[in-house]
Amino acid sequence: MNEAVLGATSSTAGLDEAVAAIRARTSLEPRVGVVLGSGLGTFADAVEEPLELPYGEIPGWPASTAVGHAGTLVLGGFGGVPVAVMKGRAHLYEGVPAAKVVFGVRVLGRLGIESLVLTNACGGIDPSLEPGTLVAISDHLNLQGTSPLVGPNDETLGPRFPDLSDAYDPGYRALARAAAERLGIPLSEGVYAAWLGPAFETPAEIRMLRALGADLVGMSTVPEVLAARHMGIRCLALSCVTNAAAGILPEPIDHERVLEVGARASGDLVALVREVIPALGSS
Ligand code: HPA
Repeated sequence: MNEAVLGATSSTAGLDEAVAAIRARTSLEPRVGVVLGSGLGTFADAVEEPLELPYGEIPGWPASTAVGHAGTLVLGGFGGVPVAVMKGRAHLYEGVPAAKVVFGVRVLGRLGIESLVLTNACGGIDPSLEPGTLVAISDHLNLQGTSPLVGPNDETLGPRFPDLSDAYDPGYRALARAAAERLGIPLSEGVYAAWLGPAFETPAEIRMLRALGADLVGMSTVPEVLAARHMGIRCLALSCVTNAAAGILPEPIDHERVLEVGARASGDLVALVREVIPALGSS
C-alpha cells in the first residue's frame, strides 16, 4: 500500500504533533481515558499528581465552547491507574467537523489508552427514566448524519469497516453495574440516540426515536465511541438523564434546568466513575 493510504489522512493529520506536545510535558502512559460532560469536572479534582493542559496548549486540539465545559486535559493517577481525563468535549453542533470532534480521543488512543469512559447529559425518552437517573448506554442509533470515520481510512488507526456489535463493552457494563450496586446507586441500561442539535428535538421526533427503539437522546458521545472502537479501545458510556425528552411531559425543555439537574446528579455519576475506573484498569 502506498504512503497516502497507510499514512495520516487530512482527517487525522496533526495527531503526532499533539502526542509529541503531551509527551514533552509528561512521561505518564495513560491506560484509561475519561471524557467528562457538562458539569462533571469535579471528577478531575481527584486525579493524583495532576498535569493540567489547557486544550489551547495542545496543537490541533479543538476548543470546547459549550457552557459547562472547561477545556482541559488532566493527566495523572487514579486509584493506581494512569488516566487521561478530558474536561470538556467538542460537539458537532458547534460546527466542529466530525474528525475534529474525536481528535482528543484519537490522541488518547495514540498515547496508549485501552479503555474509555464517556459521560454525558441526555433526555429520557423512556418515561420511566426520571431526571437524575443514571444509565449505562447499551447501544446507539447514530442519527447525526455523519461519522468521524467518513473519508480516507487511516490504516494506522484501525480498519475501514470496524465492527460495532459490542461497541458498549458488555464486560465493562457488568463492572459498572457491580460498582453501582456497591455504592447503592440505581443504574439503568438503555439505547442512546445521537441527535445533531443544537435545538432540542420536537415531540414528533421523540415519538419517532421511541418507535426506533431509543431510550435516551443526546448530542454527543457517538462520534467518540466510533473513533474509539475504530482504534480497538473498549468503551463504557454513562448518561445522566437531565430531563424528560420533548413531548413526554407537558413542559418545555430549558437548558438552564438541564445544567441544574446535571449538577445535582453529578455527585452520583462522579462517584460511579471513581468506583469503576480501578476495575477497568485491572480488567
Ligand atoms: N435532547 C438532546 N440532548 C439533551 C437533552 C435532550 O432532551 N437533554 C440533555 N441533553
